[in-house]
Amino acid sequence: MSFDLHKGNGVTIVKGLGLSRDCRFIFDPPYGNGKYETDKELPMDFYRWLIDNFQTVAFFGYPEKLISICVRIQAIPIEWVTWNPSNKSGARAKEFLPMESECIAIFGKIHNPDKLFRKRPNDNTYKNIAKAQGLNPLLSRLGDVWNDASPGMAFNHHLRQHPNEKPVSLMTKLVTLCSNEGDTIVDPTMGSGTTGEASLLLGRSFIGCEVVSEHFETASKRVQSAALSPSFYTLPNNRLHLDVGDSPAQQALFTPEADTAEGKLPAPAPRR
Ligand SMILES: C[S@@+](CC[C@H](N)C(=O)[O-])C[C@H]1O[C@@H](n2cnc3c(N)ncnc32)[C@H](O)[C@@H]1O
Repeated sequence: MSFDLHKGNGVTIVKGLGLSRDCRFIFDPPYGNGKYETDKELPMDFYRWLIDNFQTVAFFGYPEKLISICVRIQAIPIEWVTWNPSNKSGARAKEFLPMESECIAIFGKIHNPDKLFRKRPNDNTYKNIAKAQGLNPLLSRLGDVWNDASPGMAFNHHLRQHPNEKPVSLMTKLVTLCSNEGDTIVDPTMGSGTTGEASLLLGRSFIGCEVVSEHFETASKRVQSAALSPSFYTLPNNRLHLDVGDSPAQQALFTPEADTAEGKLPAPAPRR
């Protein structure tokens, strides 16, 4: 699998690369709060251009930010994931642990949802609810929650490679959801290169851009090293979670778990 890294403005660089429609964009754009020099919102016409021209587009943001982008570019995501880090904590732990959840809006084509999302209510149930309310049935799709721990926190703070670094485990799920082996993943704002690392570990090619030299150097090292590493990644089975809600009414919305006649999980193997 190949990689191609560019130092500079990802918006202009990717527009000039003549990329094929088959590319999948996965990125974690600057928050746009002006907290550091490059923390400026990407142009809305860039988001719209991506959605109009590429197979799959997925990007991170706080919920209010993502909703604001969706309204401005007039696009409805096909999927919505909440990343709620398992090591999230309150304001007092600010310096050591993540405080907030972020979300991921996904547009276009997805793969492997059965493996990556918890079992969902029968689609028609929610499609019918949407229709009854005069809503677009696309809105009937439910998102999921992924709980991967934020990297380099607390006692590992010295290992953090970027202020907004995402966990590799989270990015491997997202890459798996957005692509097949052999596809090309593009991250125009790659930071420390987590998307690139996950992509190469999963047998995808990667194109990445970063405007800050220090982050570009970090990303280059990570991506090069991932390109040389064998992948030991196996897909998580989110369907092992059976926390579908307690009430019988909620339970009734869910079809029985896989494969067994009574909808029960298979008996555990005897212990030796
Ligand atoms: C939220 S961070 C990405 C962090 C990344 N997900 C990681 O795991 O390290 C956004 C990055 O985009 C970079 N950036 C901001 N505007 C950019 C632009 N127009 N082109 C390329 N990079 C940009 C910032 O310097 C920052 O490193």
